[in-house]
Amino acid sequence: MVRVAIIGASGYTGAESIRIILRHSEAKLVYLTALPQECGAVRDVFGQFKGRCDLQIEPLDFDKLSGLADVALCCLPHKVSMGFVPKFLAAGLKVIDFSADYRLKDISVYEKFYEVKHTDAVNLGRAVYGLPELFREDIKGKDLIANPGCYPTGALLAIAPLLKEGLIETDSIIVNAVTGVSGAGRNPSSKFHFPNMNENLFAYGVGSHRHMPEMEQIAGEIADSNVQILFQPHAGPFDRGILSTVYCQPKGKISNEKLLKLYNDFYAGEHFVQIRSDAPTVKDVAGTNYCHIFATRAKGRIIIFSAIDNLVKGASGQAVQNMNIVFGLEETLGLK
Ligand SMILES: NC(=O)c1ccc[n+]([C@@H]2O[C@H](COP(=O)([O-])OP(=O)(O)OC[C@H]3O[C@@H](n4cnc5c(N)ncnc54)[C@H](OP(=O)(O)O)[C@@H]3O)[C@@H](O)[C@H]2O)c1
Repeated sequence: MVRVAIIGASGYTGAESIRIILRHSEAKLVYLTALPQECGAVRDVFGQFKGRCDLQIEPLDFDKLSGLADVALCCLPHKVSMGFVPKFLAAGLKVIDFSADYRLKDISVYEKFYEVKHTDAVNLGRAVYGLPELFREDIKGKDLIANPGCYPTGALLAIAPLLKEGLIETDSIIVNAVTGVSGAGRNPSSKFHFPNMNENLFAYGVGSHRHMPEMEQIAGEIADSNVQILFQPHAGPFDRGILSTVYCQPKGKISNEKLLKLYNDFYAGEHFVQIRSDAPTVKDVAGTNYCHIFATRAKGRIIIFSAIDNLVKGASGQAVQNMNIVFGLEETLGLK
């Protein structure tokens, strides 16, 4: 039985992680931590856990954590996470980190986009990017997994088959995506407050969103060449989900039948990626760890649609999928 600590358990991805581990047959929750003002019985912090979990959410105590847990699901914000992760690793825990602190290999890119000095170059160097469908073999048995960003998960799964086969131009990819409000975390801001969100839809992070360099780094690894991606996020008035629409310029002619075969072959045997012959909706994947993808030709371009739940395949579900791989468990445990 894998013993799981959730750090930042009072947040949205913390709660989603609790929900998933509670139904996992080979993992159990042993320690939930948060800032002191967010602590208390988990059933009082989140009504959904009444009658399902008797644990307390407590302030983090490193002495207590060491020896109690095998893995930390670290659901802390970027910049905060890298202050904690080295201590979890030193205490012998495996870490699945939800933040961006261990995703960007080039420290100067991290420091430019996150506007803070990176303080843990040593562990950054050994972190593995946790997108299982693309890097499963690298993840097995590793100590530190950088769980991907929610937008990069949807976008990279959408374009990976085309990049891997060298079928598209790599300097003109456009990713247009819409997220639900939970993507912004639980702390309210005027932009994501109900009166502004309700019946509204808006673009943000124009030309500068932090997930753009992450997409380009991983897309570059898949294509084995420099890849340019213009990424434009939007927020819409729904709780959870990301719908990405990706536009690419094909290098040559490719029919819809060939596209369908390419995607079916590339993701053959991948439980959590479902290839469709129509465009998915965010409701199709809400509350699940699935990514639904549809690729088609239009006006000489290729358009790919992908839908994920930002809190599940985009965060906590993918983290548990990574945890299962790290510990040699059946990959779908807790997630079907
Ligand atoms: N939401 C998503 O869809 C999503 C998807 C993919 C990845 N992520 C990433 O996952 C991480 C968590 O996201 P989230 O949406 O769950 O955020 P959240 O709802 O804001 O939760 C963050 C948690 O970290 C705690 N925290 C904040 N500052 C802290 C500090 N200095 N020391 C200790 N604990 C601190 C928060 O406590 P307080 O509530 O008291 O501040 C809260 O428990 C972030 O790195 C985020 O980028 C989120």
